[in-house]
Amino acid sequence: FPLKSLNTFGIDAKARRYLRVAGPADLAAVMADPALSALPRLLLGGGSNVLLTRDFDGLVLHMAGAGKDIVGDTGTHVLVRGAAGENWHGFVQYTLAQGLGGLENMSLIPGTLGAAPIQNIGAYGAEIKDVFHSLTAFDMASGALRTMTAAECRFGYRDSVFKHAEGQGLAIIDVTFALPRNWQPNLRYAELAQALLDAGIEQPTAQQVSDTVVAIRRRKLPDPAVIGNAGSFFKNPVVSGAECARLLERFPALVHHAQPDGSEKLAAGWLIDQCGWKGKHLGAAGVYPKQALVLVNNGGASGADVLALARAIQADVHERYGVMLDPEPVFV
Ligand code: FAD
Ligand code: EPU
Repeated sequence: FPLKSLNTFGIDAKARRYLRVAGPADLAAVMADPALSALPRLLLGGGSNVLLTRDFDGLVLHMAGAGKDIVGDTGTHVLVRGAAGENWHGFVQYTLAQGLGGLENMSLIPGTLGAAPIQNIGAYGAEIKDVFHSLTAFDMASGALRTMTAAECRFGYRDSVFKHAEGQGLAIIDVTFALPRNWQPNLRYAELAQALLDAGIEQPTAQQVSDTVVAIRRRKLPDPAVIGNAGSFFKNPVVSGAECARLLERFPALVHHAQPDGSEKLAAGWLIDQCGWKGKHLGAAGVYPKQALVLVNNGGASGADVLALARAIQADVHERYGVMLDPEPVFV
């Protein structure tokens, strides 16, 4: 089964089998069928955070459940739930249309609602963990549905339990957010605050924040429909305050952001840019000219081409800064 249109990198790989999953009953049917349950499995949403390094000799389960609704009210927060297959940006716009803020800084992130908890998606000073209420997961081993709280999901920067051994075999069915009635804009990200000021907006509505985030993203990030990519290819590395101070002595322009625990988050895009990789390519895999953290498929790149470019970048950044970049997308 061809996967080219199911991954935003546009890698031309194939899977042995493919099934569209509308809900838990479809997953239960897979597990009840010995011919299917024995195959290696890959859950796929929008395919915007995977790198297919070769053909997948197994079963792709395309999480396509639909539906979204307001499901509760705590007095201070409104609970909004959506099915795993809902488009993330469409869900954000739906909440805004209900007059509910909280997700607007994360507008236009590609992919599905069901994948959002996997790496605790975030942008422009917000992460889903800030407004997450709970999710429903189908346990592929036991066939049971379970409800998981934020604590159980163990969210971190681009991280959750689903990226670790304990979270394997769980398929996310739906996700619920608790959105505040008393909404305040989150303007911690300097570039966002500045863009609103430049537009003459001092007290933005949630919809105005969303529109501004969309405009910034359209300017900086490649549209996967035009040029294949998976967003940031590496996580921003987090180093100790001492290591950051040592680096700053040698590289005074180093871009870094202090974290609440005293560690420092470095801008991987800056490190890659400084190594001269911006706009360069290795075969058909390239570094996006407007944002060095985004690797792109310039046409016909294989997963191996992208990996070769990623390894070359990692080696250069490590040699120059002593920092090892950790890939963000899931390698298949
Ligand atoms: P997929 O790529 O289909 O899957 C990703 C992982 O989640 C895989 O391991 C898959 O097995 C697993 N998975 C998918 N669905 C389920 C499910 N229902 N249950 C269990 N596991 C599942 N990310 C950010 O955080 N911030 C950004 O600002 C951002 N910007 C981006 C910009 C661009 C242009 C692109 C292409 C990507 C960007 N991303 C960003 C990355 C990506 O959009 C997110 O990681 C998104 O959540 C992936 O969703 P998806 O449905 O495409 O997941
Ligand atoms: N920079 C450069 N050169 C570049 C790119 C960046 O010098 O080519 C420097 C600039 O100084 C800039 C800084 O790096 O100020 C940060 O860049 P940017 O604001 O574009 O954000 P980022 O750190 O590269 C992160 C997320 C994005 C998210 C944006 C906005 C990670 C790995 N990436 O990128 O998420 O949209 O912040 O919040 O945390 C993704 O995860 O796929 C993704 C796109």
